[in-house]
Amino acid sequence: MDRLQGKRALITGGSSGIGLETARQFIAEGARVAITARHSQAFEQPRQELGSRAVYIASDAADAAEQQTLVAEIRDRFGGLDVLFVNAGIADLRPVEQWDASGFDHTFAVNVRGPFFLIQALLPLFANPASVVLNASINADIGMPNASVYAASKAALLSMARNLSAELISRGIRVNAVSPGPIATPLYSKLGLSATDLQATSEALQKQIPARRFGKPSEIASAVVFLASDESAFTVGGEIVIDGGLSL
Ligand SMILES: NC(=O)c1ccc[n+]([C@@H]2O[C@H](COP(=O)([O-])OP(=O)(O)OC[C@H]3O[C@@H](n4cnc5c(N)ncnc54)[C@H](OP(=O)(O)O)[C@@H]3O)[C@@H](O)[C@H]2O)c1
Repeated sequence: MDRLQGKRALITGGSSGIGLETARQFIAEGARVAITARHSQAFEQPRQELGSRAVYIASDAADAAEQQTLVAEIRDRFGGLDVLFVNAGIADLRPVEQWDASGFDHTFAVNVRGPFFLIQALLPLFANPASVVLNASINADIGMPNASVYAASKAALLSMARNLSAELISRGIRVNAVSPGPIATPLYSKLGLSATDLQATSEALQKQIPARRFGKPSEIASAVVFLASDESAFTVGGEIVIDGGLSL
């Protein structure tokens, strides 16, 4: 239980779902962890569980300028950073006719633009070695109705994992990605579906997944622990697909 002993980690979107479970596993492996969410109210439940073992920072991933403030806070708290898990993300699913430019821009601001400028702002703080893990999605690799904008944003993250790795590996910074399939998290309750539609969507998805179930947040978090740790020192610009076989 010391695979991340002494590491200082930042998890964006750490108040819920995959990010919160990753915070639990990072702490159990010996890391010091800071988590973000848009508003401090989102930390009530994580704070009850993690208490002073985590640092809580309200920061909006959609705001590129705000990434500088987040980095200043990390500098004050930790002095440097060994691990970044870019996890904050939104899944806005709509038929193509229902998109407008502001909705499109918002998905890309949260899922791509903010993360890019966060990585840029963190460059002076990253230790050597450092590990950046991007939470992409299996949607980047498959075709699914209503997912065009979300999938494109996640494909951009996968491309960033490869290209930033090529650029940053000489400074000891590895960038890799995880691509989860459907994982049982609060994300689904934020899709704006009625309880009946949500149930129908969930059942339809499960039929498509060869493993015949949703994944658990812990099944993503354990891959992130591997990529964050020195065990993966030779894994550079890679993607770990964890999807119950959905993309086969
Ligand atoms: N669940 C899945 O099936 C699945 C599959 C593939 C990929 N993923 C990816 O996994 C990541 C985590 O999703 P999840 O399923 O764990 O969903 P979740 O439970 O809804 O968690 C999302 C987290 O991101 C935070 N967040 C959202 N917008 C933010 C913003 N603008 N600034 C800062 N934080 C923000 C949320 O906090 P607040 O809302 O309180 O700010 C929350 O902590 C996402 O990138 C998602 O695309 C999920």
